[in-house]
Amino acid sequence: MNSSEWMLLVLRLVHSLAAMVWLGGGVYLLLVMRPAIRAQAEPPRAFLEATTEQFREWAQVSTLAMVATGVVLMFERLSNSGGGWVYVGLLVVKIVVGLVAFWLAGVRPVRRAMRRSEGRRATPELIVTLGLLAFVIGVALSNVYGQAA
Ligand code: HEM
Repeated sequence: MNSSEWMLLVLRLVHSLAAMVWLGGGVYLLLVMRPAIRAQAEPPRAFLEATTEQFREWAQVSTLAMVATGVVLMFERLSNSGGGWVYVGLLVVKIVVGLVAFWLAGVRPVRRAMRRSEGRRATPELIVTLGLLAFVIGVALSNVYGQAA
């Protein structure tokens, strides 16, 4: 492998690991923490505040890492024109979906999003669903690349 191939590999690894932390944390909050909290008559507030704050920091770091590596990967992929229109179309959808997920996660901190919100839009579900969509499209992109006209 030459040096630019190594750089691409490192970027993809960092992007994927950051996606794992961000999405894995979101899935854990949604599928494990939230039902457990709701089952408690008196949830341990101080502990929950501490854990959500801790995750928020990791989420911020992984968001920054995903955007930074994603932008470089995007320019690298588009400059080599090996993807074709299917690749470009999927990439545009993925970036929009990912940025909307980050925006929703940023404007509604986890602490608020985890509270019971009867009758309101299920934003944590939406954030995780969008994140999953960006993840799936990301994996599809690496297969589509180099195959289309
Ligand atoms: C929730 C947000 C996101 C998630 C979960 C996510 C996840 C992923 C995953 C799992 C891959 C596949 C890595 C591989 O198999 O090599 C990928 C690839 C990629 N992502 Fe993201 N990503 C997100 C946001 C973004 C953003 C905001 C950008 C651009 C600014 C971006 C640009 C890219 C690019 C260009 C690729 C490379 C595709 C290829 O191999 O051709 N991603 N992403």
